[in-house]
Amino acid sequence: MNNPLDHLESLVAEAVANTEAAVSADELRLAEPLLIGKRSPFVNLQKTLGGLEPEERKSAGAKLQEARRRVEEVFAARLAVLEAAEKSARYEADRLVLGDVVPSRVQLPLSAGHPGVVALTQQSLEDVFVGMGFTVAEGPEIETDWYNFEALNIPPAHPARGMWDTFYLDLGEPETVLLRTHTSPTQIHLMEAAVTAGTLPIHAVMPGRCFRRDTPDARHLAAFHQIEGLVVDRGITFADLAGVIETFTKAYFGPDIASRLRPAYFPFTEPSAEFEITCTICRGAGCRTCSHTGWIELGGCGMVDPAVFSAVGINPDEYSGFAFGFGIDRCAQMRHQIADMRALTDNDIRFLRQFS
Ligand code: PHE
Repeated sequence: MNNPLDHLESLVAEAVANTEAAVSADELRLAEPLLIGKRSPFVNLQKTLGGLEPEERKSAGAKLQEARRRVEEVFAARLAVLEAAEKSARYEADRLVLGDVVPSRVQLPLSAGHPGVVALTQQSLEDVFVGMGFTVAEGPEIETDWYNFEALNIPPAHPARGMWDTFYLDLGEPETVLLRTHTSPTQIHLMEAAVTAGTLPIHAVMPGRCFRRDTPDARHLAAFHQIEGLVVDRGITFADLAGVIETFTKAYFGPDIASRLRPAYFPFTEPSAEFEITCTICRGAGCRTCSHTGWIELGGCGMVDPAVFSAVGINPDEYSGFAFGFGIDRCAQMRHQIADMRALTDNDIRFLRQFS
């Protein structure tokens, strides 16, 4: 009987030739069963070895394995070559060359971004105040207890601290470094700087981001924006404050929106007032947004407390001043009749693109 392996070398040569003839990795992978896999001559031959004597079967099996391994090696090498060539062809095709980047003649449905409604509101508030003779200054969002509270006449453990639910940072001694709860600490920075530089008087507004541990609702956000105002000069009275608030309200909201001041308490102003305007959602009739009062609180104001002047080294017998602080987000809400302030942080593009 013929040895089943008589033609082994020509089978190997044939498989090698077929392997090397493959022109794509896919083609080669498809041919794998025929060349070295289940349907290859090597597997078929394996089955015929059963008829041989044990000794012969052993050496024939080894030869067969070795022959198949040689084809496998060629197969793996060829596959690697084809895959590498295809990969670099793909990269080459993807490469941008000079001239690929040309202005599109197709009008794509893309538009550039634009400042959000809060930033736009801040800009127009600044414009109004600059028009009234104020300068614009900014202060840090991370403050020490001294700037946010103590220098503003709010001693440690003072019950008034309850007015500002504070986010403290895990820095230094406990409860010494915090996210500012209002823009009033910027007043302190400004007064200190003016005292050092000898540049009193001050007529400035100070916009910026503030943070409070509040649960967001229709009128509140935990991260919100205020604009602070500070005037320090000789002979400043409450009438100057009331005049600035009224002028601002008409200039920004229009002649049909009224403002009113209601007695209030702030540790850093005396006397103090709350500054309210007609609710623009219901025009004063009462709605969910204004809790059915017809008025919306914008912020607080008052005459700078002499204790604050003392903290920064300004002589309260020589200078007087007023300060105010109110919500920029609240202004945006009233100006654009946004019933729920949380829309400002939802990032819903249908909302955002209404303001540009
Ligand atoms: N800082 C106060 C607040 O956020 C508002 C305020 C500013 C009151 C200036 C008086 C003077 O609650």
